[in-house]
Amino acid sequence: MKPNLVVLTGAGISAESGIKTFRDSDGLWENYRIEDVASYDSFEKDSELVTKFYNARRRQLTTCQPNEAHKQLVRLEKKFNVTVITQNVDDLHERAGSTEVIHLHGELTKACSVSDKQEIYDIGYHDITPMDVDKNGNMLRPFIVWFGESVPMIEPAAKAVEKASVLIIVGTSLVVYPAAGLMNYAPAGCKKYLIDPQRPQADLSGFTFIEEKASTGVKKAVDELLA
Ligand code: APR
Repeated sequence: MKPNLVVLTGAGISAESGIKTFRDSDGLWENYRIEDVASYDSFEKDSELVTKFYNARRRQLTTCQPNEAHKQLVRLEKKFNVTVITQNVDDLHERAGSTEVIHLHGELTKACSVSDKQEIYDIGYHDITPMDVDKNGNMLRPFIVWFGESVPMIEPAAKAVEKASVLIIVGTSLVVYPAAGLMNYAPAGCKKYLIDPQRPQADLSGFTFIEEKASTGVKKAVDELLA
């Protein structure tokens, strides 16, 4: 039985793939105010603007590739039962070959019915247009967890962390909950790594902090774990 290993990732792991982070100086949000694009109220107020914003982010995926960090995490699957818990809505972990990925904040390559978020459609990298409707003729919306909406995947994510022998946190500022609270579910004796070029404001007691970009920092942790 392979030991369980959990990876919690944020926007920083996709930064070297060309996808901007949210809170770094040139953060993605600077082109838009968060309130204007990432809340249900904003969608209700201007569904066209919000849909256009996510169509642009989805289209960008066709020009991005998984980077070394995504690929290094896949190496761990030969020795560990790996669960990737990501706050990212891109598909780079899956494209790198990770087999168990929990998306806490939704997925760009999916859409759902505005009337039932459980009614999900795989749309790949296609735009959502006003003509796209669900089986009852209701509009489709991006399958994204917006600010103020519940995070249904937090329960399975917390359960995975509770069973982890190793926890690796990569590229997240740890400021958005409930994702940022997942580290507190790690059991006693869990080996913990945090990889980020900037030390996040969080209690990192018990963590091995690798102050590097994901592409080099993740390789260091993986090499150590596979030694
Ligand atoms: N390698 C590793 N980490 C990096 C890199 C890199 N090359 N570049 C930046 N980082 C780090 C930053 O130092 C920061 O700690 O990535 C983190 C990015 O933090 P945020 O921009 O806050 O992104 P994230 O933590 O994923 O945001 C969480 O907030 O806006 C919401 O829903 C959105 O999922 C997102 C959530």
